[in-house]
Amino acid sequence: MDSTGLTAVSVAEILQSPHQRLLAYPGDVVGCDRISELADLGVTAIYDWGPKQIQSWHCLGLGYCGLVLLVQCQGQQIALKVRRTDASHASLAQEASMLTLANTQQVGPQLLGHSPNFLLMDYVMGQPLLAWLQGTHSWTRATLQSHLTQLLWQAFQLDQVGLDHGNLRCVTAHSIVTSQGPVLLDFSSASTTRRPANVTTLTQGLFWGTTIAPLLVPHWFHPDIQPCIERLRRYKHHPTTKSFQRLLDLLFDR
Ligand SMILES: Nc1ncnc2c1ncn2[C@@H]1O[C@H](COP(=O)(O)OP(=O)(O)O)[C@@H](O)[C@H]1O
Ligand SMILES: [Mg+2]
Repeated sequence: MDSTGLTAVSVAEILQSPHQRLLAYPGDVVGCDRISELADLGVTAIYDWGPKQIQSWHCLGLGYCGLVLLVQCQGQQIALKVRRTDASHASLAQEASMLTLANTQQVGPQLLGHSPNFLLMDYVMGQPLLAWLQGTHSWTRATLQSHLTQLLWQAFQLDQVGLDHGNLRCVTAHSIVTSQGPVLLDFSSASTTRRPANVTTLTQGLFWGTTIAPLLVPHWFHPDIQPCIERLRRYKHHPTTKSFQRLLDLLFDR
């Protein structure tokens, strides 16, 4: 047990148990390449901890590209994304380079290491945006506005460096609200070859999508669609700080 009260199982022990399959999900046998990559990355133990249960083990999350586990590395708790053996990408190299670029703008969890089959990154502790919004705890309109503004600023920073996140339509699943504010996750669909559309996609997803928008209405965040479309169009043609600020002014009635 470590100082946080969680118990970690050593990688050596995992490899001797049926749980070794987690490292090759949804396959059955973890190959030598993965075992040596884990050793090179310095992963020493894995925690049976997280909101998602897979093969009788608690994980931080599961997507179409990866299974994310809480692991121990140099005594720290860190998130490990394990490339699914049925993933469409043959390696996590592209995702690693996209996350590295996002990190230059202080966006996304900090990348701490990577190999073809694994990404090591900061463990983002908090609740997914949707759960946070639906939570029974009381948050103020000011906190909500601050979180939404921070998310839009992160999208703006990504637009500025020419990185299209590619998954912001489902921002509910791809942002975790921490005590420091929201963090954007999952750069598996990110690209620098498409024209970035982060601010426009995120704005639409937050304010007019079917999942989050209805939860914002009681807090008076229900901007008129027509003027917003006009400002989004301007922003799209001239993605400057000024046109972005003008969009925020309209969205938050500032
Ligand atoms: N750094 C992290 N810290 C905490 N949870 C994470 C982290 N990265 C991913 N997760 C969780 O794991 C889930 C799957 O990760 P994701 O990167 O979206 O995988 P995929 O590319 O397969 O969709 C996320 O939706 C999130 O809940
Ligand atoms: Mg995902």
